[in-house]
Amino acid sequence: MNKLPQLFAGIFFVFATSWIGLVAYPYLQLGHMQPVKSAVTGEAAPPPLTGSAVAGSRVYAANGCIYCHSQQVRPAWLSTDIEKGWGPRQTVPRDYLRERPSFLGTMRTGPDLSNIGVRQPSVRWHFEHLYEPDVVTPGSIMPSFRFLFVQRPVRGKPGVDAVAVRGPNAPPPGHEVIPTQEARDLVTYLLSLRRNEPLPEADGSPVRQP
Ligand code: HEC
Repeated sequence: MNKLPQLFAGIFFVFATSWIGLVAYPYLQLGHMQPVKSAVTGEAAPPPLTGSAVAGSRVYAANGCIYCHSQQVRPAWLSTDIEKGWGPRQTVPRDYLRERPSFLGTMRTGPDLSNIGVRQPSVRWHFEHLYEPDVVTPGSIMPSFRFLFVQRPVRGKPGVDAVAVRGPNAPPPGHEVIPTQEARDLVTYLLSLRRNEPLPEADGSPVRQP
């Protein structure tokens, strides 16, 4: 008996159900999601990224930060993310509306960065840390991103944006370290990471087991 039509119907069924489950249903559920008006600031939440932060997200992508850092806070009943101080609440799909692509990540060699802008709002700290992580956080295994800075002789007065770096790679006397535009954009992006806004589906309190 020729079973070819049944075979093709079976294959079609398998592909069609997975397409419906993995593409069509999530699109219907999340595809038309919009920012909401923040109850705290009255502005759109999540807020749109500024030009420099958009450029910084490209630097984040290009330098492989995603290989060691996630950007997703899991609920309290599933993990200790909230206990670790990685955010006041779990992250939800609306948190990622402003980003293309979203850097959810899968590896956590370093801490989750969903709320690094809240946890560490100092621009100087980020520059010093990117330049030489091990000096700022002793024992850190994060690679140095010194190539995002330039060393130059001090001309007259030290530059206002010179970074006070310490350690073995500090510049020789009479020289200073200046962040490149890439480093500035990257830090603007890092400071924009504040997924702590109360949203309709996440009121700001840690979500416990349903
Ligand atoms: C090989 C893994 C690795 C890569 C790649 C990496 N990091 Fe890290 N990162 C770490 C580790 C480990 C720590 C924790 C120790 C420390 O603070 O330096 C860390 C810490 C941090 C912190 C401080 C987090 C906190 O909660 O204090 C920031 C910010 C950060 N990294 C940003 C970046 C950025 C931006 C990039 C890409 C340019 C990057 N990291 C690439 C491993 C990595």
